[in-house]
Amino acid sequence: MAKVLEVNKLSISFTQYVQGLNRHDLKVISDLSLDVDEREIVAILGSSGSGKSLLAHSILGILPYNAQVTGELKFQGNVLTQDLKEKLRGKEICLIPQSVNFLDPLMKVSEQAIGECQNDREHDERKVKQREIFDKYGLDESVDDLYPFELSGGMARKVLLSTALMNNPVLLIADEPTPGLDSQSVKETIEDIKNLKDNGQSVLLITHEIDVALKTADRIAIFYSGYVIEINTVENFKNQQNLLHPYTQALIEALPKNGFKFTEGVQPLEVVSGCPYYENCPIRTDKCETSIPELVEHDGIMIRCFSYEEGNDGT
Ligand SMILES: Nc1ncnc2c1ncn2[C@@H]1O[C@H](COP(=O)(O)OP(=O)(O)O)[C@@H](O)[C@H]1O
Ligand SMILES: [Mg+2]
Repeated sequence: MAKVLEVNKLSISFTQYVQGLNRHDLKVISDLSLDVDEREIVAILGSSGSGKSLLAHSILGILPYNAQVTGELKFQGNVLTQDLKEKLRGKEICLIPQSVNFLDPLMKVSEQAIGECQNDREHDERKVKQREIFDKYGLDESVDDLYPFELSGGMARKVLLSTALMNNPVLLIADEPTPGLDSQSVKETIEDIKNLKDNGQSVLLITHEIDVALKTADRIAIFYSGYVIEINTVENFKNQQNLLHPYTQALIEALPKNGFKFTEGVQPLEVVSGCPYYENCPIRTDKCETSIPELVEHDGIMIRCFSYEEGNDGT
C-alpha cells in the first residue's frame, strides 16, 4: 500500500537558558519513526506534555521558531521541506486543532471554513461547499453566522472537523479531537474519522485516550517519554500476549482497574542516557541503563526494547 506519511528519526528539542548563560537542551521528541498508509488511521498515544502536538506542528511546518529539528518527513514519497509544507498545509494536509481557540474569535465560523478566496466567484463556490459539509455534520444555516465563542462544545468540534475537511485533505491530523466532549459527541467523532477511510483519506490521530485510539485506529504508536516504544495493530491489543513492550503490557493490564482510562505513570522528562523505561522495567538489564535501543521490527511489530534485538527471541 502507498505510504502517505513517513517520519524518519525525527527529534525536536528546545534550548533553554537556566540561570543566565547555562544552556540546557530539552529534548521533547527523540528519534521518532512512523508511517501512515493510504486509507489508514494511525493513532499516537501519549500522555499530556509528551510532544504530540509538536509532532503535528512539525508536519504542518508551524513549530515555534526556537524548536530545533532533525530527521526527515515525507509526504507521498516527497521530502517535506518548509516550502512544501506551506504549499500542502490547509489543502492536502489539514489539521483539526486541539482547541477551538485556534479559530479566529472575530470571524464568523462559515467564513473561516471558506477561507481566503481570490474573487467573488471562488467565494460563492466555496460557500456552497461549506454549506454542504456543515449540513453533513448537522450544522444548520443558523450556525454560519455564529462566532466561535457562541458555539457549544459539540458544535465547536463539528465546525473544526468541517473546516479541516473543506479541502478534502489526503491526510488529516486530528489533535486530541475528543476531550471535553459528551459521550455521544465522542462516538460521533470516532465514526466521522473512521468514515474518512472510505473516502480514501488517511488520518494521524493524536490522543491521550486509549479507548478512543482502540475504537478508531488501525495501528497505535505508543509514545513514552518522547520515544515511540511500540507500534502495533489494534487487532493485537485484543490479546495482551501480542503486545511486546513491558510498558504497553503494563498499560493494558492497568486498564480495568482504571475504568479503561489511560492514566499515565511518571515519565522522565529528560533522559540523559539509557532506555526511558529503565526505572520501571521488570526485564531491564545493565545495558538498558546506559544505552537506548533502536526501534526495530519484530514479526511486523515495531518495538524499541533490547530484548527484541537481533539474536534475541524476546523471552
Ligand atoms: N516553544 C516552546 N519552548 C520550549 N518548550 C516547549 C515549547 N513548546 C512546547 N514545549 C515543550 O514541549 C512539551 C510538549 O508539548 P506538546 O507537544 O504540546 O505536548 P502534548 O501535545 O503531547 O501535550 C511541553 O511540555 C513543553 O515542555
Ligand atoms: Mg497537545
